[in-house]
Amino acid sequence: MDSQAEDYTESMYNHKEVFYRYPLRLVHGIPLMEPIAQQWDPIENFQARPDDLLISTYPKAGTTWMQEIVDLILARGDVEKARRAPTYIRIPFLEICSPPPVPSGVSYLVNAPSPRVIKTHLPFQLVPKSFWENNCKVIYVARNAKDNVVSYFFFDQMNVTQPEPGPWEGYIKKFMEGKVAWGSWYDHVRRYWDEKEKHKILYVFYEDMKEDLAQEVRRVMNFLEVDLPEEIVQKIVHHTSFQVMKDNPMANYSSVPDCIFDKAKGKFMRKGEVGDWKNYFTVAQKEAFDADYKLKMKGTTLHFRDELSSGLRP
Ligand code: A3P
Repeated sequence: MDSQAEDYTESMYNHKEVFYRYPLRLVHGIPLMEPIAQQWDPIENFQARPDDLLISTYPKAGTTWMQEIVDLILARGDVEKARRAPTYIRIPFLEICSPPPVPSGVSYLVNAPSPRVIKTHLPFQLVPKSFWENNCKVIYVARNAKDNVVSYFFFDQMNVTQPEPGPWEGYIKKFMEGKVAWGSWYDHVRRYWDEKEKHKILYVFYEDMKEDLAQEVRRVMNFLEVDLPEEIVQKIVHHTSFQVMKDNPMANYSSVPDCIFDKAKGKFMRKGEVGDWKNYFTVAQKEAFDADYKLKMKGTTLHFRDELSSGLRP
């Protein structure tokens, strides 16, 4: 790890007092954690470089999985190189902010050498303009709404810097109303879908990654213009499987202190499945969710699969 990365990690451990369940504040109409709202200017004015690669997702859609895939592709399958530091150091989180003195994502990124790979959860309209002005490549990962909300619910229990999720019934309602951090899932996935032809956006589905990871790895390689032999592709597929990533301390977030991710309340690498929502939605909740979904997703050509046995995406 470079010394700046070490400082970053150390400051999280040394300033435990600044972490608590931050309230959400609206930034251009989008609810974001209070420290992000308070330090919004440097995020909005962030200077992208033409060779930056942005990995964008709605929270819990498979960000970390894509980060590991991209890092391994760029390392040409060198697993040791990909273990040089935890995910959040290798691929910094653009908008993440804690109260000072913990450094922000931006403060870490401005000094990072090119080419940078950057993570964001910002909806399209809040992504700093310089990314579009510089025609940067963006990989967007989307996950079906029901598995996404289940994953977010459990994450909000263990991530003790996010608002208290409360009971499941109320949480689904908050998700449907977009009253969770980073706002409406529906608007997020739709807007990137609508913008993908106008910008260099590769749109990837979590469900496709689960179904045929090698194929999605090849799509990402193609987008990044990296050519690797099939045996390296298979190596990347192996090292980015749920089973291997969950035991990799550089990819499973186990290095984040308990004052941020309370490991007694859950694991970051929870289940990694498609269709897990069936274990949590009641029949009535599913019906209400599906009816509301139809309204919110009306008119889009974007379709998700919420189980893998249902065949190809329509
Ligand atoms: P679950 O909570 O359903 O298990 P993000 O990185 O965007 O926060 O997304 C986290 C979700 O992606 C979690 O979902 C996590 O388990 C899942 N995930 C992470 N790595 C994965 C992998 N290699 N394969 C499948 N799912 C993975």
